[in-house]
Amino acid sequence: MTLAAELEAIAIAVAREGGDLARRRRGEGVAIAATKSALADIVTEADREVEALIRERIAVARPDDGFLGEEDGIHAGTSGITWVVDPIDGTVNYAFGIPAYATSVAAVMGSPTPEAWEVLAGAVYSPAHGELFHAAAGHGAWLDGRRLTVNAAPGEAGALVATGFGYDATTHAADLAVVGKVMPIARDIRRMGAAALDIAYVAAGRLDGFFERGLKPWDHAAADLLVTEAGGQVAWFDDDERPLLAVAGPDLLGPLVAAVSDRV
Ligand code: IPD
Repeated sequence: MTLAAELEAIAIAVAREGGDLARRRRGEGVAIAATKSALADIVTEADREVEALIRERIAVARPDDGFLGEEDGIHAGTSGITWVVDPIDGTVNYAFGIPAYATSVAAVMGSPTPEAWEVLAGAVYSPAHGELFHAAAGHGAWLDGRRLTVNAAPGEAGALVATGFGYDATTHAADLAVVGKVMPIARDIRRMGAAALDIAYVAAGRLDGFFERGLKPWDHAAADLLVTEAGGQVAWFDDDERPLLAVAGPDLLGPLVAAVSDRV
């Protein structure tokens, strides 16, 4: 078994266990534990509990690896591999009872930043839908035993594209202006509220592309690998105080990046 495949098996197991815990807690009722940088930037007790569980499981399976979690930050390791984890991506959906939320787990080699990392394995689990997307570098991206492929060409009617809005309210006007620029090359635009799932859906061919400024590593590490292993491309620009991520099949990426990277 390759290292990537070994890490993928761990990612699948902990994403499933963590996501199932989140779904059980949802059934018991959810309270917002804290509001962080903005009204939409919230944390629930379940986010913390799920992250602690995943960290504990990984510490047993791979004691020398580092860990970077949305809620608890970075814990350095010595192996060169870091686990990048979002216990509940789409926490606002989760708190409001909208099923579009996911547990995202990636194992990356190198510094755990998108400019420097090589993502070796990833799992994005949508517990409310019972769907677990997973990939290992060089071994393809998969959902329920089905190999995933991005939509290569969106077709004449245009692409179905998703986006998200970061938490920094001072940039929302710019984000909305960019949406206006993407509309002419799109069939329609979605804002579903869970970036890891949006990107996984690009890998699965359910969406043609996705873009967002200001995403954090845990929002997209695992899903980026799904897209590249499904034949798509990831463009990451960190030349701005709010880095831009765009993902799509090869035909759409160029036009999408041209539309969204043009500063307003
Ligand atoms: C958020 C979601 C949302 C995106 C935000 C993310 P969180 O993650 O992915 O769709 O627009 O930028 O921070 O905070 O729910 O884990």
